[in-house]
Amino acid sequence: MAKTQTSRVDKLLSSMGYGSRKEMARMAMAGGITLDAAALLDVSKRIPVTPDLPIRMTIDGEPLDPVAGLVILLNKPLGMTCSHKESGKLVYDILPARWRRRDPAISTIGRLDKQTSGLLLLTDDGDLLHRIISPKRHVRKTYRAKLARPLNGSEAALFASGDLMLEGEDKPLAPAELNVVSQTEALLSVTEGRYHQVRRMFAATGNHVEELHRERLGGLSLPDGMAPGQWKLLNEDEIALIFQ
Ligand code: URA
Repeated sequence: MAKTQTSRVDKLLSSMGYGSRKEMARMAMAGGITLDAAALLDVSKRIPVTPDLPIRMTIDGEPLDPVAGLVILLNKPLGMTCSHKESGKLVYDILPARWRRRDPAISTIGRLDKQTSGLLLLTDDGDLLHRIISPKRHVRKTYRAKLARPLNGSEAALFASGDLMLEGEDKPLAPAELNVVSQTEALLSVTEGRYHQVRRMFAATGNHVEELHRERLGGLSLPDGMAPGQWKLLNEDEIALIFQ
């Protein structure tokens, strides 16, 4: 079993974006930090960093944020970018502001285009991120695409063939599964994450994707009724669903 890490309180809180170590010392002296319902005055104290800290520790009267190893499921709204750097509206703006200052940083697991909505995961767990995006794992990503023109009937076979070569690439796409919903709507499941892949796949058939929404990642679906911009933390069982 992995050994529980310990950390100085000031270092831990600073790495979670609450402020500098000096600010944490001042906050503690003012009674703003509690552990197990008692004021914690000395921020040089080392404590075990366990997942139950958010129910044992308060900061300014609020439960501590989740400690490192968090996985967030977001229903990404249209018009937001999956980037730390670009200008305009970023998906990170949806999360609490101090989460932008966390170390390790929270990043999106893969990306959705600015004009794609739906299931987006974010994490500060680099190993998990790589396991999910690794092509070797074949995690299925299912998209609902609304199309400008009616399907011509040949798409499912072409996408499943493993022979479709996208423009400008030298390796054909892995087989993908198409389920037709109507003449201009389909669900497409892919296991790779190439640049603008779904839009380019339909473009290769002479069509154009007008709306794109990711519904599923592995066995994990966007919860019913989760509005665009809403998010939640995933528990271990939900994380395991990704690999099913
Ligand atoms: N394929 C696309 O074309 N866009 C996305 O955002 C995801 C997959």
